[in-house]
Amino acid sequence: MKNIKAIIFDAYGTLFDVNSAAEKCKDKIGDEWEGFANYWRTTQLEYTWLRSLMNRHKDFWKITEDSLDKSMKAFKIETSMRNELLNLYKILSTFPEVKDVLNNLKEKNYKLAILSNGTPSLLNELVKSNNLDNIFDDIFSIEEVGIYKPHSKVYDMPIKKYKIQKNEVAFLSANTWDVSGGGNYGYNSIWINRNNNIFDNLDYKPKNEVKNLSQLLDII
Ligand code: LAC
Repeated sequence: MKNIKAIIFDAYGTLFDVNSAAEKCKDKIGDEWEGFANYWRTTQLEYTWLRSLMNRHKDFWKITEDSLDKSMKAFKIETSMRNELLNLYKILSTFPEVKDVLNNLKEKNYKLAILSNGTPSLLNELVKSNNLDNIFDDIFSIEEVGIYKPHSKVYDMPIKKYKIQKNEVAFLSANTWDVSGGGNYGYNSIWINRNNNIFDNLDYKPKNEVKNLSQLLDII
């Protein structure tokens, strides 16, 4: 990959493990914890797309709460777990290799940024609770443009701030639809395919697919 000036990371599911909140409660939730975590995540994302289409924006934290409430009903989870799950969602863990890879990239001459649906305070807290404070040049939140990914206004933010071309960005996401969104916009999107998933049919196929972030160091 040539002429890359900025390496931009999606947050939820890419740097931070969205299932880690439910996983930490798996003894209380039981065997269905993973199905519950996936349902919560899918509902949360659907709400972002639906609210963008309906032009009824609500921030990502409120959407996380709304989608949790539906998911807890669907899986008959005791309401007393609500606060625990929400508090754990604020301090999601990173995937194991993330910190080393980011520290390694920090020594090179790239802009490093997060571009995410999360609110600025949620993203700052995640970065802080995982000791990643000094890594990123910017944390771009969709709250600045008031519409969720994959709207092109979101992917525009780093281009405007860094005054660079779209193809000078390496964009990393584990969310296939976000890889497609960034790729259709004009980024070099790289798919982090941690679980051997199948890619989308949305007019973009990433040229690079990696199992985890460590492999990024070989292609940039
Ligand atoms: C984000 C979602 C897409 O962080 O994971 O923007």
